[in-house]
Amino acid sequence: MISVVLPAGGQGKRMKSSQNKQYLMLNEEPILSHTWRVFARLTCVFIKEIILVVADGEQQFCEDEVVKPYISEKHPEVKVISGGKERQHSVFEGLKLVSEEVEMVVIHDGARPLVSEDVIYQTIGVASESKSAISAVPVKDTIKMINKNSNTVEKTLSRDQLVYVQTPQVFDKELIIKAYENAFKKRMIGTDDSYLVEMLGHNVDVVQGDYQNIKITTPEDLIVAKEILKERGS
Ligand code: CTP
Ligand code: MG
Repeated sequence: MISVVLPAGGQGKRMKSSQNKQYLMLNEEPILSHTWRVFARLTCVFIKEIILVVADGEQQFCEDEVVKPYISEKHPEVKVISGGKERQHSVFEGLKLVSEEVEMVVIHDGARPLVSEDVIYQTIGVASESKSAISAVPVKDTIKMINKNSNTVEKTLSRDQLVYVQTPQVFDKELIIKAYENAFKKRMIGTDDSYLVEMLGHNVDVVQGDYQNIKITTPEDLIVAKEILKERGS
């Protein structure tokens, strides 16, 4: 069985909006509703539950405005819980509630509303073999490492080895819980889940992601997301 953890407990500071970015409207619906709906509609019978991790005090709002409009009878179990200070704390709160019988966990940012079913299923497929898979796309720009003090280039990284890492990221349940426990024990904070798995020395497979699966982070991203939805005809 599979559990889905959707971290949506951030504050959206880089969006510079008075409202939490998850609830900003994207085609007349909150961003998080789009993300929720993709997972709520998955027909995969192995999905046991979806755990939405939201900011403190936003649970009721999320249940009423995001979950209820798309809940169906054959739907897996839904848990809406409150998160923590950093994304890593929020995901960990979600992992603590994963049911006993679950073998695999799908982690996906609430702020990535344009994820496709295809990418989700492909990432699950690879992780079911290797225990750990992330979706990613090749970088388009040249990326350089710089010295922030002197504002000079340290080195130019080889582009054909670089990817933009996205979510979903899918892991064997025992492995991801062990990775999170290890990270907290060693006081490590990573910006994605697979980093914590890498820190255990475990291999992480990379699955072809989708350039349209952007994370809504700054105001420009919302403009791009609206255009993508327009092109999709929705
Ligand atoms: N997230 C979370 N709990 C946190 C911080 C982030 O669940 N304490 C979630 C966000 O809600 C988002 C995802 O992790 O869906 C990716 O994080 P990010 O894009 O950084 O969102 P925010 O932290 O909300 O934005 P910002 O960093 O600009 O404040
Ligand atoms: Mg953040």
